[in-house]
Amino acid sequence: MHILSLFSLAAIASVASALSGCGKPIPRYFPAPGQSKTLPLPGTDRTYRIHIPANYNVNNRTAVYFSFSGAGRNATEQEGLSQFSNPQFNPDGIAIYPQTQNGVWLSNPKANTSYPNDLDYTNHLLDYLEENLCVDTGRIYANGKSNGGGFTNVIACNATVGSRFAAFSIVSGAFHNAVNVPGVGFCEPAPRKGGYPFLFFHGTVDQTAPINGNASAGILPVIDILEQWAHFNGCGLDSLWTSNVTTFAHPLVKHVSWACDGRNGIVQFYREGNNGHCWPCTRPNDDYISLGLSKCPMGHYVFNATDYIFDFYSQYRLDV
Ligand SMILES: *[C@@H]1O[C@H](CO)[C@@H](O)[C@H](O)[C@H]1NC(C)=O
Ligand SMILES: *[C@@H]1O[C@H](CO)[C@@H](O)[C@H](O)[C@H]1NC(C)=O
Ligand SMILES: *[C@@H]1O[C@H](CO)[C@@H](O)[C@H](O)[C@H]1NC(C)=O
Ligand SMILES: *[C@@H]1O[C@H](CO)[C@@H](O)[C@H](O)[C@H]1NC(C)=O
Ligand SMILES: *[C@@H]1O[C@H](CO)[C@@H](O)[C@H](O)[C@H]1NC(C)=O
Ligand SMILES: *[C@@H]1O[C@H](CO)[C@@H](O)[C@H](O)[C@H]1NC(C)=O
Ligand SMILES: *[C@@H]1O[C@H](CO)[C@@H](O)[C@H](O)[C@H]1NC(C)=O
Repeated sequence: MHILSLFSLAAIASVASALSGCGKPIPRYFPAPGQSKTLPLPGTDRTYRIHIPANYNVNNRTAVYFSFSGAGRNATEQEGLSQFSNPQFNPDGIAIYPQTQNGVWLSNPKANTSYPNDLDYTNHLLDYLEENLCVDTGRIYANGKSNGGGFTNVIACNATVGSRFAAFSIVSGAFHNAVNVPGVGFCEPAPRKGGYPFLFFHGTVDQTAPINGNASAGILPVIDILEQWAHFNGCGLDSLWTSNVTTFAHPLVKHVSWACDGRNGIVQFYREGNNGHCWPCTRPNDDYISLGLSKCPMGHYVFNATDYIFDFYSQYRLDV
């Protein structure tokens, strides 16, 4: 009896994930095309914010761009910071801003690791989106800022959830060295042909998640995570980042690009001279305004990280 009910649950789960929202009208409680809304995720105690592009077509498979907020920040703030709902950057894709359970994401030692944890939530949210909207399952992408960036790394390190995302980007990532947290203690991405494309941004004067780490706060140097993904992508001993600094138009910025197994630029890093824990933008966004000149001395930055993120993503899709 018990075995039978487990079996039927598994059967229901596999049928559910095979359902597609293509050809169906947008559920009435979703935002209209061109708009955003914060919604509860059915079957959970969690919420998420969603933006549907103005040109959404129920018969056209649509890309999905996740952006996870920093610790203590919320989904609406992340929408403003990332600009993922702005058609200037993302004219055609669905933007998703997941909401933390208690202010932090898995990777932060304060995160709740009990089932259903942030990985389970993300996996469930993806199932739900694919069932209700016309999602291109080959074009689902993960991004995060700070602790949300640490969680983006955790996602890629999980074979089940990471396999659903075509490429990853991290802005000012906080990579906690917490052994009880999947992603740091054990990073086990599922092997896949195209590898794990990763784009990183980090400021050299970041005081919250210092670029060279902070051992007493349990934060790893960014180079450790870059080399981890260069390694998983097959770069082997060639993964020393100093060997491949490319020139960049602005002298403050160093751009580093790894070519692994012939995949040029599969791991890339923008090292932002004189920037703090602020999402790079040529206009002062909420990070520059709230952290101020003492923490982000330039008051804005010399490029828009969001431009580079969508350019990077456009080069990658999964074969599904
Ligand atoms: C389908 O979506 C793509 C972008 O994902 C867009 O370029 C194309 O114009 C869309 N086609 C239709 C018929 O809506
Ligand atoms: C998100 O944060 C902003 C700014 O702190 C606040 O105004 C807003 O009410 C918050 N939204 C939610 C849903 O908590
Ligand atoms: C941790 O998460 C579980 C599952 O969502 C929940 O039942 C529990 O209340 C959470 N604990 C805390 C302290 O938030
Ligand atoms: C990966 O995530 C899935 C879905 O949330 C979960 O069931 C599984 O236990 C995770 N694996 C590891 C090694 O944490
Ligand atoms: C490192 O973290 C500790 C503990 O949180 C903090 O007191 C210290 O100021 C941090 N050091 C730097 C260089 O950020
Ligand atoms: C470094 O760049 C050279 C070309 O300048 C390229 O042949 C080599 O594969 C690159 N190495 C890595 C690890 O990216
Ligand atoms: C950067 O993005 C902002 C909107 O967030 C826009 O106003 C600005 O013109 C963009 N800068 C460049 C150089 O495209």
